Amino acid sequence: MRRAIYPGSFDPVTNGHLDIIKRGCKLFDEIIIAILVNPDKKPLFSIEERRAMLHEVLLPIKQQECNVIVEDFQGLLVHYAVQKGADAIVRGIRAVSDYEYELQMALMNRRQEPRIETVFMMPAEAYSYVSSRLVKEVFQLGGNIDGLVPDAVLSRMRNKLV
Ligand code: PNS
Repeated sequence: MRRAIYPGSFDPVTNGHLDIIKRGCKLFDEIIIAILVNPDKKPLFSIEERRAMLHEVLLPIKQQECNVIVEDFQGLLVHYAVQKGADAIVRGIRAVSDYEYELQMALMNRRQEPRIETVFMMPAEAYSYVSSRLVKEVFQLGGNIDGLVPDAVLSRMRNKLV
């Protein structure tokens, strides 16, 4: 039984995240999508809203072989990963610019917990420029984000901003 943690802010979940989760499902028996509770950030969506959106958009993936769970966590990621009995942390790498920060985190996490491996995965090219931050910014300024987030997320974003 191979278990991975896929951590992030997921504010909101994008099609890039879903792409990584689907790819991760080929490698792991179980993936725990772990939403970081970060009191220092002012998110667009509450933890409860992010959980609900993730549950909704993960339904089709959940029907496949891999077990996908949604949780939230506080504190050090590696402590949470150990507590969950995870073997690995999955992170998506879109461009070289992501690599530097992700490498730092991966090495720091390894120093804290050498048992836990970090697995970097590349999303489909179509999502290589998609981030929650950009999607929110473009949408809030009236731009088009069709195809970049699941429909359920788009409609929640519309509701938020009316
Ligand atoms: O989606 P994000 O915001 O890029 O995710 C960042 C995340 C949640 C992976 C990172 O901030 C994190 O692991 N935070 C938990 C606190 C922690 O463990 N910090 C030390 C990292 S080396």
